[in-house]
Amino acid sequence: MDSTTRLAAVLEGLGTALPPRVVTNAELAERLDTSDEWIRTRTGITERRMAGPGVATSDLAVEAGERALKSAGVSEVDLVVVATTTPDHPCPATAPDVASRLGLGPIPAYDMAAVCSGFVYALSGAAGAIASGQAERVLVIGAETFTSIIDPEDRSGAVIFGDGAGAVVLRAGRADEPGALLGFDLGSDGALADLIKIPGGGSRQRAGGLAPDPADSWFTMQGRQVFTNAVKRMADSAGTLLQRIGWPVQSVDRFVGHQANVRILHAVAEQLGVEPERAVINLDKVGNTSAASIPLALGDAAASGDITAGDRVLMSAFGGGVTWGSAALVWPELIVA
Ligand code: UT7
Repeated sequence: MDSTTRLAAVLEGLGTALPPRVVTNAELAERLDTSDEWIRTRTGITERRMAGPGVATSDLAVEAGERALKSAGVSEVDLVVVATTTPDHPCPATAPDVASRLGLGPIPAYDMAAVCSGFVYALSGAAGAIASGQAERVLVIGAETFTSIIDPEDRSGAVIFGDGAGAVVLRAGRADEPGALLGFDLGSDGALADLIKIPGGGSRQRAGGLAPDPADSWFTMQGRQVFTNAVKRMADSAGTLLQRIGWPVQSVDRFVGHQANVRILHAVAEQLGVEPERAVINLDKVGNTSAASIPLALGDAAASGDITAGDRVLMSAFGGGVTWGSAALVWPELIVA
């Protein structure tokens, strides 16, 4: 490769991790004022996973990271990025611990906080590190234990969110190789920050001496407004990216949107002009796993043959901040671990 060629980030490994405990809609309906029918028809979710007490986000991240490294057949990377809204601790970041436990040595490691858009944001950061020559190989992990920040009595949050992790290995390569990330479209609108929020525990409503109202330490979401913003932003962002990389919308084989709600995914597909059957859906089994949702959906689809080598894959996410982002690649030959 000559030194003037811009390096592309090429997908070469993919791994996922889910805690074994399954929480069904029926189980939630036993203790909350909800029903299997409401949850299925309003969200498309039938069950989600829950990490047991004592299991932290880093534990799931390490498991998914190990599998992604195995899938890529490598044991060394130059950078680890962990996208998460549920870090093990407010301080320090989770990524250094994950890198250390994976035996990756004294490499740079940082967390990416963009809530449900975190994985796409982290992919973009990793691709930038590769393009600038700062890293040849990067491990990007989306990992969450959202059940640790959802008030168990909050029926609207408890039915949606679940725990899990997904990870990819990216290596430096050429833009015309299968697996090369072909472009990104990212955005944010902080004027809508209140739509998705944990009010307490940060510098605005401080923990410690001035303890916030305990109710303010739970995750909050204004569902209906998030829904409409998510549809618009994901569709616009994905459409902008398609134009930028010159893919006609009809050429998209698989649309892998953030798995928040099946109605959102179908509405985005419709606005974009992608047939709904092309939308990859795995939220029925895992719920909304925030930053882990896209890599988990990719992992499921690739393992089941729903995504195969040569497919044009379009990803798009929307989350707190608010933030959104899209990315695209032609799927490479890959064995999911
Ligand atoms: O991951 C980051 C991005 N997140 C998202 O994209 C999530 C976006 N939002 C959504 O997916 C949906 O807004 C929800 C699934 C959260 C809620 O669905 P919705 O169709 O927007 O319901 P709603 O909040 O408008 O509530 C409709 C009704 C209300 O009752 P009334 O006021 O009509 O009597 C709620 O109280 O449904 C009620 N409700 C429930 N009923 C049974 C809300 N949650 C539940 C529940 N079970 N779990």
